[in-house]
Amino acid sequence: MENISLQLDKVYGFVSKETVQSYKSSCEAAQKMLEDGNGKGADFLGWLHLPSCISEEFLDDVLATAKSLHDRCDVVVVAGIGGSYLGAKAVIDALNNSFSWLKRDVRKNPTILFAGHNISEDYLSELTEYLQEKQFGIINISKSGTTTETALAFRLLKTLLVNMVGKEEACRRIVAITDARRGALRTLANQEGYKTYVIPDSVGGRYSVLTPVGLLPIAVAGYDIKALVAGAVEMEKQCATGFDTNLSMQYAAARQALYASGKKIEILANYHPKLHYVSEWWKQLYGESEGKENKGLFPASVDLTTDLHSMGQWIQQGERIIFETVVSIASPNGKMVVPTDEQNLDGLNYLAGKRVDEVNKMAELGTQIAHVDGGVPNIKVVLPKLNEYYLGEMMYFFEKACGISGYVMGINPFDQPGVEDYKRNMFALLEKPGYEEQSAAIRKRL
Ligand code: PA5
Repeated sequence: MENISLQLDKVYGFVSKETVQSYKSSCEAAQKMLEDGNGKGADFLGWLHLPSCISEEFLDDVLATAKSLHDRCDVVVVAGIGGSYLGAKAVIDALNNSFSWLKRDVRKNPTILFAGHNISEDYLSELTEYLQEKQFGIINISKSGTTTETALAFRLLKTLLVNMVGKEEACRRIVAITDARRGALRTLANQEGYKTYVIPDSVGGRYSVLTPVGLLPIAVAGYDIKALVAGAVEMEKQCATGFDTNLSMQYAAARQALYASGKKIEILANYHPKLHYVSEWWKQLYGESEGKENKGLFPASVDLTTDLHSMGQWIQQGERIIFETVVSIASPNGKMVVPTDEQNLDGLNYLAGKRVDEVNKMAELGTQIAHVDGGVPNIKVVLPKLNEYYLGEMMYFFEKACGISGYVMGINPFDQPGVEDYKRNMFALLEKPGYEEQSAAIRKRL
């Protein structure tokens, strides 16, 4: 079977191949540190060999839970934030029919909605209003079990569900995914008797898509989690080899060479709107992993060709501190041919008979050449098709490259100390018990 591939040739006009290759030894050293578990954040390396450690029995258990939710629910709300929702959202959106939410009659699987990733009263009240007419269930995901956004949404959703179907049935429709022992969600789940899954201590949120955090929602949505894992297993093997055959090391090396040459922003681009959340997942992975100690490429994203009509100008001629990484899909799943029009008033007959994807691919190629001419180095990650298997390959590839890249930069890619600052201020402003001193201090600054 084909694999995803990486194209770096449009980088070499900006940093030479030799310069990229000069990162070979630091990338191989980073890989060794990951394997030996003696680098920074070594307690969080559970993702490294996760794909090959996932058993068939475990996947069958996830599928059985998915079936039970499937049988009881029209809608399943996934409550989680950051790494506790982005992986599932990325895969489900990438695989879903773009209009599946409108195709009620033919839908075989529950609709997956997300909550707990914002504190918007409008969002939550509108969601509640919608759910009042639905048979719904909840997958509540929080590794710490204490994240305010998620806990608040869960309290609201659980209250609604219990009011609608009673405590016993609600309990059958709620699954909690959290730490094995710690956190309020674990206490609550144990007390209420929810079905639970454990997020391993050694797997951080943004590396958790192949744990039940990602697998259960993806399975409920009706997608093939065994193929997703199989793709990741394949990449785990491929990305354990030496530099010359290891895509994750080569991508990490190109990023670091470009960063050292003065590029400060990496833009992930796609040419299919259903990949929007793949970019959001990638942004969290790289942003939270690398943005520390006053270092790190800023991960940004665009959906093309849509954003060529908004951000295209900046990319083409703005400050030359960016490079672009395109996630390209070799063959689309749909098929549409441009029809001939006798009158040709729109002047499009020169496209007649061509696949829409050919037009899209020429836009992709034309944009690549224009951006390279405009001073934007271009990396391409090619997926042969958009399916579970290649998404599994791609996600593991990006995770492994992120770990390597972080170690090459000399930072800990597995912690996120900066995320705590806003929480401290929010708790102080909300006068959470235990924050009395901070409350007084912050109020003086208002
Ligand atoms: O990657 C991470 O660790 C974070 O983004 C977390 O996933 C996010 O903060 C949610 O945390 P939790 O799962 O503890 O609610």
